[in-house]
Amino acid sequence: MASSAHELIASVGQSQLAPSQYPKTEIWGYNGEIPGPLIKVRRGEYVRRKFVNKLPQSSTIHWHGIRIDNKMDGVPHLTQELVKPGDDFEYDFVAPDAGTYWYHPHNKTWEQMARGLYGPLIVEEDDPPEVDEDLTLLVDDWRLTQEARISDDFGSMMDWSHAGRLGNWVTVNGIGDYKHHVKKHQRIRLRLINVSNSRVFSLGWNGMRSWLLALDGQPVSKPTEINRIELAPAQRVDLFVDITGEEGGDAFLLFQDREQSHKIASFTINAAMRSSLLNAPASLSPNNISEIGNLKTAKKIDLIMEGGAMGRMRGAVLNGEYRNMRDLAASGHLWAFNNNAGLTEKPLAEIEIGQTVIMSIVNDTAWPHAMHLHGHHFRRLDKGDRLGPLRDTVLMERGERIQIAFVADNPGKWLFHCHMLEHSASGMVTWLKVA
Ligand code: C2O
Ligand code: CU
Repeated sequence: MASSAHELIASVGQSQLAPSQYPKTEIWGYNGEIPGPLIKVRRGEYVRRKFVNKLPQSSTIHWHGIRIDNKMDGVPHLTQELVKPGDDFEYDFVAPDAGTYWYHPHNKTWEQMARGLYGPLIVEEDDPPEVDEDLTLLVDDWRLTQEARISDDFGSMMDWSHAGRLGNWVTVNGIGDYKHHVKKHQRIRLRLINVSNSRVFSLGWNGMRSWLLALDGQPVSKPTEINRIELAPAQRVDLFVDITGEEGGDAFLLFQDREQSHKIASFTINAAMRSSLLNAPASLSPNNISEIGNLKTAKKIDLIMEGGAMGRMRGAVLNGEYRNMRDLAASGHLWAFNNNAGLTEKPLAEIEIGQTVIMSIVNDTAWPHAMHLHGHHFRRLDKGDRLGPLRDTVLMERGERIQIAFVADNPGKWLFHCHMLEHSASGMVTWLKVA
């Protein structure tokens, strides 16, 4: 597809998602590719892309995890108008933090992302750590038919009221049997991005050693060796990987599904790159994100999540009117925050710029949820008020209650929603106003 480096054209395309004995799959992609083109800038540089919409639906682009200028955040009706079929929109913003981010639509996201609209956005450190290779893998979970078509049962209330749209075909960078060549003792910076609608990927590996370097783009204070990681929808992890398997053998990235583990990427190990492994890696330098202020004087926000199958919700307010469950469901609403289904006219809270905020969140549902805050990173508070790592998306288990803290230092209207896309589409979304 003809496109200048400056353009991101969303259009219908073809991609060989399934094995080669199957036909190509009709997808929606940025510049016709799955994933969309890699956007790479240095910390503090501008990202400038003209988004051209050649889809049969209106769309926008959201730059997930970037502490962005609010008017570039891509949320229809809240921060910008929809970009209609045939129209375009100029995105132009600074990427203030180094790390692993991504972009995706923010209209009918449950359908547009499930059809393949997503891409990586990498912001390089001022002095990137030395590695032999920097590799970004986007892990997706497609629902394909027997003929390798994308199943078009998008509005399935069964999915929306349960765990979301779970697929039956996992790809890495749009490929079902992703293969890559590596060398023994090679060190790779591996950036993993969960771009699925609703699948929590429990990932493991063999033939390699891994250190946890960053979560959702933000460096952890000290890299620690890990042998598995849980990646909820929209979450990212940066790993330092050393290839330890035998020459001529393979290393694998594995996805653990109940009792089974599936190989989702294989790495053929060629001759050794060096005679022994490199030393344990040093940490990345942190980004310049405001430190959490005094927790005692912080602004407190309470959020109760309810609804879904096997939930206790009997009704909720929709567009200013209380409706019972049956009426809600009839209009595609199945979940609520503080008894409101979907976006309210007024924000959940108005926050003064610079204020430290503590959100107490209760998951009063029978399902896990991946809660995402736009425009900010937050830390989880544990019982002793100790602060966890910076993240932009946190996985909450059923029945769980957590507290998160952040400094509201970015003015604008910011969404807070479940990143299991069927859940946000059917009610799990609210917004904060920072001014
Ligand atoms: Cu990646 Cu509002 O989301
Ligand atoms: Cu959810």
